[in-house]
Amino acid sequence: MPQTRPDSTIVVIGAGIIGLTSALKTQQLLSENASTRSTKVLLVAREWPTSIPGAPIHHSADYASMWAGAHVRPIPPTTPQMHREAKWLKQTVAEFKRHLESDPWVGLSQVTGVEYLGIPSPEYESQTAQSYASETGLLGYKTLPADDLPQGIHLGFEYQTYCINSPLYCGNLLRKFILQGGGTLQQDLRSEWEPYSWGSHVKAVVNASGMGFGDPKCYPIRGQIVLTNLSTATKTITAQNSDDSWSFIIPRGFNGGTIVGGTKEPGNWSVEPSTAVRGQILAAAEGIISESCNQPAGAQSVDGADIQVIKDVVGRRPARHGGMRVETEVRDGNQHVVHAYGAGGRGYEVSWGVASEVQQLVREVLSLATVKSKI
Ligand SMILES: Cc1cc2nc3c(=O)[nH]c(=O)nc-3n(C[C@H](O)[C@H](O)[C@H](O)COP(=O)(O)OP(=O)(O)OC[C@H]3O[C@@H](n4cnc5c(N)ncnc54)[C@H](O)[C@@H]3O)c2cc1C
Ligand SMILES: *[C@@H]1O[C@H](CO)[C@@H](O)[C@H](O)[C@H]1NC(C)=O
Ligand SMILES: *[C@@H]1O[C@H](CO)[C@@H](O)[C@H](O)[C@H]1NC(C)=O
Ligand SMILES: *[C@@H]1O[C@H](CO)[C@@H](O)[C@H](O)[C@H]1NC(C)=O
Ligand SMILES: *[C@@H]1O[C@H](CO)[C@@H](O)[C@H](O)[C@H]1NC(C)=O
Repeated sequence: MPQTRPDSTIVVIGAGIIGLTSALKTQQLLSENASTRSTKVLLVAREWPTSIPGAPIHHSADYASMWAGAHVRPIPPTTPQMHREAKWLKQTVAEFKRHLESDPWVGLSQVTGVEYLGIPSPEYESQTAQSYASETGLLGYKTLPADDLPQGIHLGFEYQTYCINSPLYCGNLLRKFILQGGGTLQQDLRSEWEPYSWGSHVKAVVNASGMGFGDPKCYPIRGQIVLTNLSTATKTITAQNSDDSWSFIIPRGFNGGTIVGGTKEPGNWSVEPSTAVRGQILAAAEGIISESCNQPAGAQSVDGADIQVIKDVVGRRPARHGGMRVETEVRDGNQHVVHAYGAGGRGYEVSWGVASEVQQLVREVLSLATVKSKI
């Protein structure tokens, strides 16, 4: 008996923040047009934010989206790639604003962001409330008085930003995707071209695999951070010290604890957290912890008495020399892979902008397919 023909399918590889937002944007695209309304989106991944039949319950260091703080912290763009990322960030900020209003439970919170710089570059020095708002979409920018700055810090400023409870947010995006008819498949793929072997119903593949398949430009940036039980942190604060070390505190919202960080170690593949490093991270962050929790300096001891460490976390930021790759690649004339990987330490804050570009690329691939089938 002949099998029923499967529905036309767009495969999205990866259930991290980039794959999830791309899958939702692709669903939106398909629903807009009567001719594509029966086309399905199938999300295929090795690891998932929530329980999917067959998926591991524990997350590996390679599944970056589970380990991110995460906050939105713009970087002044200086290269064409950074300008592209800045545009994605601004689109993400606009989406977060809408999303927070329509789905307040989704895992986003609006908080004050504070930044301290030991050696501010000229781009930081020239920021104003107006330039900041137009570059990033974030409001409330103001420079902090020099007298209030911590030792060794030469520029401080604040603005209104967003924090994301990463596992909660990803879990909720996945639920929305499934509710809208999305399919899921737990599978460890050997190649991003593999889905084309499943049949001619596969019309396009989106490669949002973090750093999955051996692009020599991809490399991990190891991050060790500490998930603590602090529940009174109100601000996300980041210090870039003059010795190149970083301290940051990110409240996760929704009783998700507070992240205190952290390291940025390009090319370090170690997944074991170091207890010595945990001590250094907490000690270095003492000042910003007090500030975020509105406590007088030193009121909260970091020797373990007042702050409980819930988990030492090691995650790998999926970085790529030259920045994130978002483009379509064609093989054999009609197999299209839309790449969206290599987000490094910025996956959340650029997610919706990247997903909009993926949506546009999928639109182009689909119209090519229509043109071809008419010929
Ligand atoms: C400590 C730390 C702090 C961070 N803080 C922030 C922050 O404050 N703000 C911010 O914006 N970003 C932050 N990031 C960065 C952010 O986490 C990443 O940029 C983002 O999670 C990347 O998402 P992704 O979807 O590209 O990849 P991932 O989350 O790694 O997802 C990859 C997906 O692809 C699947 N996959 C991979 N290979 C295969 C295969 N062969 N077959 C099948 N499936 C496969 C995986 O299973 C997974 O589902 C931080 C990261 C770390 C580690
Ligand atoms: C698909 O994405 C991965 C990163 O996840 C990359 O290593 C690989 O090279 C990409 N595929 C191609 C054909 O570029
Ligand atoms: C990688 O990180 C671990 C833990 O902090 C450290 O012990 C190790 O020396 C680092 N390795 C390299 C090559 O830097
Ligand atoms: C965190 O845990 C410590 C140690 O158990 C406790 O003293 C403190 O009250 C806790 N803080 C919060 C905000 O729950
Ligand atoms: C719907 O899709 C068809 C075929 O891809 C295309 O020609 C048409 O312009 C699309 N309509 C809209 C409103 O996007």
